[in-house]
Amino acid sequence: MMEFPEKLQKKLEVNQAKGRLRMLPTNQDQVDFSSNDYLGFANDQLLQKRAEILFQTQTGIKNGASGSRLLSGNHPLYQELEKVLAEYHGYETALVFNSGYDANIGFFSAVPQRGDIIFYDELVHASIRDGIRMGSAKAYKFKHNDLNDLQDGIKRIKTHQDEYGEIYIVTESVFSMDGDSPDLLKLLMYCKKNRIYPIIDEAHAVGVFGKGLVHQIGLQHLVFASVITFGKALGCHGAAVLGSVSLKTYLINFSRSLIYTTALPPHTLATILMGYEHLQTEAGEAARQLLLSNIYYFNSRLNKLQLQNIFLKSDSAIQVAVLGDVKRVKECSKKLRSKGFDIRPILYPTVPEGKERLRICIHSFNTHGEMDQILKIIAESNHG
Ligand SMILES: Cc1ncc(COP(=O)(O)O)c(C=O)c1O
Repeated sequence: MMEFPEKLQKKLEVNQAKGRLRMLPTNQDQVDFSSNDYLGFANDQLLQKRAEILFQTQTGIKNGASGSRLLSGNHPLYQELEKVLAEYHGYETALVFNSGYDANIGFFSAVPQRGDIIFYDELVHASIRDGIRMGSAKAYKFKHNDLNDLQDGIKRIKTHQDEYGEIYIVTESVFSMDGDSPDLLKLLMYCKKNRIYPIIDEAHAVGVFGKGLVHQIGLQHLVFASVITFGKALGCHGAAVLGSVSLKTYLINFSRSLIYTTALPPHTLATILMGYEHLQTEAGEAARQLLLSNIYYFNSRLNKLQLQNIFLKSDSAIQVAVLGDVKRVKECSKKLRSKGFDIRPILYPTVPEGKERLRICIHSFNTHGEMDQILKIIAESNHG
């Protein structure tokens, strides 16, 4: 083996010393409070069977896409899926990417141009930040879910900068590490009034809140682009950008993470399609209702146990206890895991330093008893 560069070794040692060296976990058979499989679709037997049947009816190459979407990899199921996505979510059209990470870097590196300005919520996902960094527009962050701070930032630019191009704003409808949401209605109305282009990442809202939180307020026509992903409530893999036909054509021509990569395998496309069908069945809707009632139960227990002071307020499937100290978070997670509950510590740099936390994902299949047990353990750690 070649010697590992000293500089890199030092960086690992720093992480080790700070107690935040990342290691790939060995997944044990534990109660799932960690995955993004909110509705249990990833392991749903009926869904697996339906996807398999659809897959088997397809002609052509089966094991892989064999090329990028612009060459040999554009399987006919893509067209079917993009039609379903556009109709279901209520946008003009959809463009499927290999993952949410690819969709965000592909969008933000290609769409905002030199001279344009992007305002992003300070807690947006790493894929959005990376995409922004790859592009040539100037970017400014605004305080988390703070429309006033955003408006102040925009006013500042308008007063101090003579010339600028388009303004883009990006946020998430459910934040991945906090579980909370912005006031989308106010945000979208503000964007409309000021000719600003909003991009909403709905990765953690789709499926949990049906067709997404933008759909709930019926304002898709005010959204420039929405990013949805299939690796969370849909239990599969992949993502899509929803928006206008012109945006889709633009991305097909300029989005490098769409152009220069092998397309998704046909089996994945079949699984996503069947996932969408499943969402609309009685069983799918029952799973969603169970999830919502579990979130409600979890929140009611927080109040009873007086844990609201450490938990962030959230009506989504993502519930977060900010313990604010690497050691405490790790110890609590270890205790929970030793009792059979899969709950992971979330450390810097995924979250800001000093805001280390336990991220608890609620699922349709979690029981009240399980939720009671984990909250009891967290309450004991908190008070003890
Ligand atoms: C808000 C948000 N956007 C995008 C992504 C990336 O999606 P994917 O896992 O499909 O790459 C994630 C993943 O955690 C996310 O939380």
